[in-house]
Amino acid sequence: MPHSVRAVIARAKGEPVSIETIEIPDPGPGEVLVGIQACGVCHTDLHYREGAINDEFPFLLGHEAAGIVEEVGEGVANVAPGDFVILNWRAVCGQCRSCQRGRPWNCFETHNATQKMTLDGQPLSPALGIGAFAEKTLVAAGQATKVNPAARPEAAGLIGCGVMAGLGAAMNTGEVGRGDSVAVFGCGGVGNAAIEGSRLAGAHTIIAVDIDPRKLELAREFGATHTVDSSKEDPIEAIRAMTGGNGVDVAIEAIGLPSTYEQAFYSRDLAGTVVLVGVPNPEAKVELPMIEVFGRGGTLKSSWYGDCLPSRDFPMLIDLYLQGRLDLDRFVSETIDLDQVEEAFEKMERGEVLRSVVVL
Ligand code: APR
Ligand code: ZN
Ligand code: ZN
Repeated sequence: MPHSVRAVIARAKGEPVSIETIEIPDPGPGEVLVGIQACGVCHTDLHYREGAINDEFPFLLGHEAAGIVEEVGEGVANVAPGDFVILNWRAVCGQCRSCQRGRPWNCFETHNATQKMTLDGQPLSPALGIGAFAEKTLVAAGQATKVNPAARPEAAGLIGCGVMAGLGAAMNTGEVGRGDSVAVFGCGGVGNAAIEGSRLAGAHTIIAVDIDPRKLELAREFGATHTVDSSKEDPIEAIRAMTGGNGVDVAIEAIGLPSTYEQAFYSRDLAGTVVLVGVPNPEAKVELPMIEVFGRGGTLKSSWYGDCLPSRDFPMLIDLYLQGRLDLDRFVSETIDLDQVEEAFEKMERGEVLRSVVVL
């Protein structure tokens, strides 16, 4: 029997979101119906509403979520009804050229549910193939990753997007290791997760850079050893001074701006690594002297979703959380109801929150 549930919908470009009743079919082969317990508000949801991702309105927003599996379709083996899961947008295919070469974290053919959820008979486009600002959602089985149910849903769900992106930028993409020095540009949810990831990976110097003193204070709480207010001082000089004149081993850009990318590029030691995890707007350009790109050596990388492999990373990170070694709770700035997403977008834009989390 199809399910009628309340959900947050973006109907048209730039219009405020609304709460609507949508229809969800029973899970078909390879699909899973998940009862959502919590879902974080991410910049990408706002980008969908603004029409900045594509024009396939109406969108069912929300994608940073945890919940309980309610029903599974034919052939689903990785989860069963009652399992506590975090949703992911990297259900790897196992068949594409990247999966075949043993690099599933780069999978180019990730799976989503085959059947459509609908609003008044019209098919919905779920954000990042998930759509979790809803009482229930329908996903591909691989999009549901089973984790220890002792974790608080509002904290656990954050592993599904922004926090994973930041942790993974440090731990997976940047390969931060014991004794490394790291600088993180931008200390929102993603940047602070990169700070935590660096700490977990054993970095001994972690320099947080932001223009907002509130964010620098949070960065200290997450494990930054030094902070730089780049509205007041030149971050490149400050970072060199904090690292014996050399620069950091790994510089992580978690904003998506050319100016901060250049700062990251120049604040890195010789043979160091730059990781871009902030998402630039399509017009942004960087210009670098080619002799510096060559002469500094090292690696310039991008981090897609923290280069995570959900089946490997989510259960492990939740275990670290439950052991008190990874602070996910500090990312939860507030919990809100389904009908407060629009206000949460405004708070996000004003820089007042790391994450507002819808609790159902
Ligand atoms: N220099 C330094 N810090 C800056 C600058 C700047 N020029 N501009 C903005 N910031 C800081 C803000 O003060 C804020 O603390 O960058 C941080 C950005 O954080 P959020 O807006 O909360 O964004 P977040 O959710 O962390 O995402 C960061 O990663 O996944 C992407 O789309 C996401 O591009 C975004 C980025
Ligand atoms: Zn693949
Ligand atoms: Zn997101």
